[in-house]
Parts: sequence; C-alpha cells; structure tokens
Amino acid sequence: MAEPLKVGLAGLGTVGTAVIHLLEHGRDKLSARCGRPIEVAAVSARSRNKKRNIDLKKFRWVSDPVALAGDPAIDVLVELIGGAGDPAKRAVETALAAAKPVVTANKALLARHGHRLAILAERHRVALNFEASVAGGIPIVKTLREGLDGDSLTRIYGILNGTCNYILSRMEQDRLAFDDCLREAQRLGYAEADPSFDVEGHDTAQKLSILASLAFGTKVDPDAIYAEGIASITLADLDAAGELGYRVKLLGVAVRTEAGIEQRVHPTMVPKDSAIAQVMGVTNAVTVDADGLSPITLVGPGAGGMATASAVVSDLADIARGVRTPPFGRPAARMTAIRKAPMQRHEGGYYIRLLARDRPGSAATIARRLAQQQISLESIVQRHEIRPQVAGRRGRSGQPVPVILITYATSEDAVRKALAAVRRDRVISGRPQVIRIEKN
Ligand SMILES: NC(=O)c1ccc[n+]([C@@H]2O[C@H](COP(=O)([O-])OP(=O)(O)OC[C@H]3O[C@@H](n4cnc5c(N)ncnc54)[C@H](OP(=O)(O)O)[C@@H]3O)[C@@H](O)[C@H]2O)c1
Repeated sequence: MAEPLKVGLAGLGTVGTAVIHLLEHGRDKLSARCGRPIEVAAVSARSRNKKRNIDLKKFRWVSDPVALAGDPAIDVLVELIGGAGDPAKRAVETALAAAKPVVTANKALLARHGHRLAILAERHRVALNFEASVAGGIPIVKTLREGLDGDSLTRIYGILNGTCNYILSRMEQDRLAFDDCLREAQRLGYAEADPSFDVEGHDTAQKLSILASLAFGTKVDPDAIYAEGIASITLADLDAAGELGYRVKLLGVAVRTEAGIEQRVHPTMVPKDSAIAQVMGVTNAVTVDADGLSPITLVGPGAGGMATASAVVSDLADIARGVRTPPFGRPAARMTAIRKAPMQRHEGGYYIRLLARDRPGSAATIARRLAQQQISLESIVQRHEIRPQVAGRRGRSGQPVPVILITYATSEDAVRKALAAVRRDRVISGRPQVIRIEKN
C-alpha cells in the first residue's frame, strides 16, 4: 500500500470531531478508493482539556495551529477553526506557503481572502479545497469547478442558510410568527444565540460570493452583494404568496446581466411548483442555469457535523488521489474584478403589500404613482375586513386596507421611486412590504 496522506487537523469542534469519526470509520473503504490511507497525524484546538467524543490520545497535540500548518510531519492541513482572521488565516497561508495542500470549511476566510489564497495555492502548486464552505454536504463547489463549463453559466441561486429556511418553513406550515420560530430554532440548536448573521442574510452573502466567483470567474467580493434579511416577513406575506402561487424563501442569487454581475440576498417569491420551492426545513438547495441546459438543482443537508465532514473528507480524498484543479476552476490570475450591477437596475416582478388609508382617492393615487414609473400590474388583491364593532356609517372600519400588488417585470429603481411618492402622498400607513419575485 502506498504511503498514507498525513493530515494536520486544526479545529476539533462540531466539524473537526466529525471528520475524525468519518476518517476512522471509513478508513478501509477510503484507502481502497484513493489508493492510499488517509491518517490524522496531529491535531490542534484551543483547549487541550476540553471533553470531546473522540480519543485524543491517538493524535499528536500541537497547541498552535500555525505551527501545525508548518509541521514537516504533515502532508495536508485541514482548517476547521473558522473566522476570516487569525489563527485560521495565518495557518492556511503558512501551509500553502510550505507547499502543503489545504482543505477548509471556512466561508468567512474564503469570502474575504479567497482570491489571494488561490494565488498562493497556485504559486506553490497545491490544492486549496473548500467544498464544505458552501451548502455543507451538497457538492456544489466541485460541480461548478469541474462539472460545468464556466463560460456558459448565466445564473446561480439557492437556499444557502438552513436557519432561515427552517424559520420560513415553520412559519408557513404551522402559522407561527417570525419571533416564535426564531426562538424555537435557537432552542433546537439551528440558530445562534445572536441570530443576526443568519437572519440578516450575511451568512448567505458570504456563501454566494464564493459561488459567484466559481460560476463567473470573478474575484470573491462579499461587499459587492446587496443583502436583506427575513425579519420583516409576516404570515400575511406567506399567505398571500401561497394564494398567488408562490412560496417565500431567503435566496442568494448571482446573475449575469448586461449591467454586470448582480449579486443579491433577500426574501424571494419563487413559483410554488419550482424545485427550490419544495425545499423545506434546514435543507439547502442550489440551482444553476446554463446556456443550453435545463436548470440543475442540487438539494441536501447544508450544515451539521457529519454532512460538513463528508465534504471535507471528499476534498481530502481528491488530494490523496493527486487531483488538483485551480481553486476557483480557472487560473486565479485570470479572475477579473467584479463588474457589479447596481441593485437599482435589478429587473423583475415585485410583490408589494401596502396598507392603504381608507379614504376616497387612495387607490387612484397609488395607481397613478405606479403608472408614472411605467409599472404595470399583473394582479391586485384588496382585503377589506368589515369589522362590525368598529364599522362607521358606511359599514366600513375606517382602518387601513391591506392591498397586495403583483407587478410585471419592472426595475428596482421604478419600484423605489413609486413607493417613495406614495408615502409622500400620505395615502398609505406604515412601510410598504416589498418582496422580489424570481422566475424559474
Ligand atoms: N458546524 C457546521 O454545521 C458547519 C457547516 C459548514 C461549515 N462550517 C465551518 O466549519 C468551520 C468549523 O465550524 P465548527 O462548527 O466545527 O466550529 P466549532 O464547533 O466552534 O469549532 C471550532 C474549533 O476551533 C478551535 N479554535 C477556535 N479558536 C481557536 C484558536 N484561536 N486556536 C486554536 N483552535 C481554535 C476550537 O477549539 P476548542 O474546541 O478548544 O474551543 C474548536 O475546536 C467554520 O469555518 C464553520 O464556518 C461549519
């Protein structure tokens, strides 16, 4: 049998311990597949004495992950510490500079420094594999890097955050409010104590920035992404979406347009019969559109120790076999700065929920403001609840009336201008709810 691939494993948390478990339990099958065994030679974490469900005595302990990265006794570094800064960054740089391949699950590091790290890996002719950094157990990185012709890709979009999809699914299926679902997700361990990174769309944005680079050959740039979260979504929106043939998902979308690459994260209405609309709970999904191909959708577990570890082990198996491709599927030197399409130029259909003041002329004013921006309506739903206890002389409540508008394709700029004018006219109360519609 050939020499084993000796792994230095930095980070022994949820994913790190699952990687040890998978390597130990799948040892024989893996070495048969790769032609050589994969062995953990040394490990590193913050605390040596922490109780973990693995037997640490089997592995050499190196307290500094950066020292582990440069250790001559290891062939490959697996970085599972997390975070865009040190020690994860310095450990990865140290390994690459010492011509050791790296496997990482660290989306924050790749979103911030992906292009520079890819240059470093290519300079030293070693692999930088990061399948686990996006959508956990779904092999989307490999699919984009090796399985599809990058030049023909037109759009990539997906459900990249299990916490948000869990909350939206639970709200819809069990008619619960956002806050109740969030508390439940925290109790079940699906959401962090501080959930803002997930629910405000930043986690999805980091992952989308990596996917967009793989899909379009642009340098990773998380700052080029427009991000909106799900906290404003109400049951009224989910009900209306259902009646109109849609479901609401937090999507990350990257699309080639004439104005450049549009990258956006926001609650999105997707047709109820689309593949992505069927994905419920913590599951993730990614759809890729390419010229000359029907859309391809990959669905699977987006997080969790075992799912993520399986992606890490698959990256390690490639290294054991001697497979190396440029980290972003094309030479890093050929990756271009992103030409960012401004959000105002986004074009598509919109769902708009307004509370129209219950007085003569409100509807006409709203219609006029939309027409001034050349916005045409596909449908209008007006919900006028007649509540006898508060009804006035004309049998009306005097309360604002929910009005739901679905537009034909228009621009973000037109919608923003029309709604700003409607607010200035004081014919609505509160802020309008706007949800973009993504067609399949
Ligand atoms: N969990 C998931 O489902 C998931 C899914 C996809 C991707 N990822 C990514 O995988 C990576 C690891 O995630 P995780 O959930 O396994 O994290 P975790 O459970 O918090 O584990 C982090 C590990 O890093 C170690 N560590 C932290 N700071 C350190 C330092 N300064 N020096 C040395 N070791 C340090 C910790 O040591 P101690 O144990 O001693 O504290 C711990 O073992 C992250 O990049 C994350 O984004 C995770």
